[in-house]
Amino acid sequence: METRIDKIKAQALQELDTAAGADDITALAVKYLGRKGVITQFLRNISTLPPLERPLAGKSANEVKQLLEDRFEAARARLLEEAAASAETVDVSLPGRPVAFGSLHPITQVTEEICDIFTRMGFDVVEGPEVETDRYNFEMLNIPKNHPARDMQDTFYVSDNVVLRTHTSPTQPRVMEQQRPPVRMIAPGKVYRCDSDLTHTPMFHQVEGLLVDKGVSFGDLKGTLTAFVHQMFDTETSVRFRPSFFPFTEPSAEVDIRCVICRGTGCRVCSQTGWLEILGSGMVHPAVLENVAYDTAEYTGFAFGMGVERIAMLKYRIDDIRKYFDNDLRFLRQF
Ligand code: DAH
Repeated sequence: METRIDKIKAQALQELDTAAGADDITALAVKYLGRKGVITQFLRNISTLPPLERPLAGKSANEVKQLLEDRFEAARARLLEEAAASAETVDVSLPGRPVAFGSLHPITQVTEEICDIFTRMGFDVVEGPEVETDRYNFEMLNIPKNHPARDMQDTFYVSDNVVLRTHTSPTQPRVMEQQRPPVRMIAPGKVYRCDSDLTHTPMFHQVEGLLVDKGVSFGDLKGTLTAFVHQMFDTETSVRFRPSFFPFTEPSAEVDIRCVICRGTGCRVCSQTGWLEILGSGMVHPAVLENVAYDTAEYTGFAFGMGVERIAMLKYRIDDIRKYFDNDLRFLRQF
């Protein structure tokens, strides 16, 4: 015959089966095992039973008490484990987190574009040191000590005879010293001048160009640079060569393009002139060729140097050069 304690046990286990969470289990523990719990009451009432029934009732009540304690504890542990496991679960239905792609800096992009145009015309890409000797930065380029042309550039001196190169032109004598003509090279890289405002930063980028061979004329210079401008901008962009002076070229010319903003009618960007200066150039000065022991009776050449930021500002219509170096991602992501 089922005893009262058996009924209590069956009832408790059934309630435990339907318990949904930790709170339910705690409530069950209170209901059955608490100070006023069903089993506690039962044990307390054993003294009212007939003496013969007392030992058996006590024994089974204590067994049920122990059993329920174990079951409640196990149920609690299982719930904790389940909670931990579900916290670790990967929800494969969630959309993936986007990975941010890096991209080349606009100055790098424009430098590569310039180099691509000239390599298609047969120029080799070379590089020179950014920390340069006075000899290559100035003297080999026909800019002797105390020459007023040195005032044209605000030079960062590392020591008396070592500078941060103020232009990429020192790559010219460096390359010519290493090889005989024909020479056809471009040299991209960083240059440094002590200057800082809307259109100048202390570090900026140039691309140097040099071509030396038999019978090279100013016409070759014009043709090459015009082809460059037409590829860099578009074939509608006309080009103008303006007489100028550089110690390492003779004759020298500055190259202007039709204003890319107003197309020549005059605007703020071109200071109402309709033209924008983009680079310096000229026929390599015989003194520069002699410095590298090239025979000036046999060889002539042309050279040019352009500022990459300047080209990039015109191409992308940026009015403040410093934007290129602020590293504001909202700016950089547009390229
Ligand atoms: N080095 C000059 C500068 O930084 C630019 C330049 C002008 C380079 C004429 C040349 C050149 O090669 O022929 O202002």
